[in-house]
Amino acid sequence: MKLLTNISTLYRVPVDGKHDDVDAVSDAAVAWEGDTIRYAGPLAELPSEYADAQRFDAGGGCVVPGLIDCHTHLCFGGWRGDEFAARLEGASYQDIQAAGGGINSTVRATRNADIESLEEKAASALSDMAALGVTTVEAKSGYGLDRDNELKQLEVYRRLQSSQPLEIVPTFLGAHLVPTEYRDRRADYLALLCEEVIPEVAQRGLARFCDAFIEENAFTLEEGRRILETAKSHGLGLKIHADQLSSGGGAGLAAELGAVSAEHLEYAAEEDIRAMADAGTVAVSLPIASLYLREPFLPARKWIDHGARVAVATDFNPGSAPSYHLHLAMTLAAVHQRMSPAEVLRGVTSHAARAIGLQSTHGSLTPGFRADLAVIDAPDINHWLYHFRPNACRMTLKSGDWLER
Ligand code: NIG
Ligand code: FE
Repeated sequence: MKLLTNISTLYRVPVDGKHDDVDAVSDAAVAWEGDTIRYAGPLAELPSEYADAQRFDAGGGCVVPGLIDCHTHLCFGGWRGDEFAARLEGASYQDIQAAGGGINSTVRATRNADIESLEEKAASALSDMAALGVTTVEAKSGYGLDRDNELKQLEVYRRLQSSQPLEIVPTFLGAHLVPTEYRDRRADYLALLCEEVIPEVAQRGLARFCDAFIEENAFTLEEGRRILETAKSHGLGLKIHADQLSSGGGAGLAAELGAVSAEHLEYAAEEDIRAMADAGTVAVSLPIASLYLREPFLPARKWIDHGARVAVATDFNPGSAPSYHLHLAMTLAAVHQRMSPAEVLRGVTSHAARAIGLQSTHGSLTPGFRADLAVIDAPDINHWLYHFRPNACRMTLKSGDWLER
């Protein structure tokens, strides 16, 4: 049994309920055994059986559930700093892609990279993320765009699951873009995905979710529907990159198909917002992508007023969001998406857990849940989000163990 005390404010975070309820307790303690939370509440009410537990000191900081980055493109070859500079000069993200750059350029670099170097690069990002208080990371393929290279990315995630401490939730994103060699035969690429790769990924248990990028120059709504229905029939959960750069109906499709989440959503239509809220599909906001692409931020108030759950994630990738700093995404969500610090905290814990299907074990400091938490060097979450620093996280506990840093 282990015990953490000297906590100024403990945010237990309910699994569900009101979006701004974080269930804060002052002068608190958390006890865990193995990888499971046993007690989280006022120190004064700590059951006597925990009094002799091995003690750790939170140094008067606040404690939150381990943070969940529920949308990343973690494994990729190369970087695209040249495109960043071109966009600063006025080129658009879509123009760069149409000219063979963008996602295509990362596909070339990822195909050329060997599995060891991809694993090493992703592991280095994960170790920085862990130091920021992140304990679970959703990670997509989508830079291979052929059978072998998509499986190579998913294999990197499988290896990382045992070679480093953070939990990885893998998502198959073969429908990120039609690769250039299939440009004049899209139907063949769709057939490859639906008849070969999705069945194999599902059968080998290489991904928990299937995602599709529904956008002009990526996949149409009807293509997305076919891919996602196929994935669903093979037992994969569904996610959609929807309405990021234009309004294309992806959010409505996510609701209709019972997707666990839809992402980006800056251009989602009002009726699709309502449909997602009614279906319980989590809206994953990605403010770092809005920042880098100078696109609008998600109008989170509108979503929350409709009763939708809004999560916050980094979208870490070499193009639209070249940062895995979840604290940056959180501060942007507060300032530009007009979310309260409590709503932002829900967005990276309980709502983020729901966006990857882990809401009954992760994202909340509830007895019986996974012993994942972060000790933050701030008296409360207002101070944490307001005082943006290289790293405000003091200590990270993952599955009951303190992570080295
Ligand atoms: O989530 N929107 C599509 N995919 C990524 C960007 C990928 C890239 O630019 O490499 C995103 O923003
Ligand atoms: Fe993305």
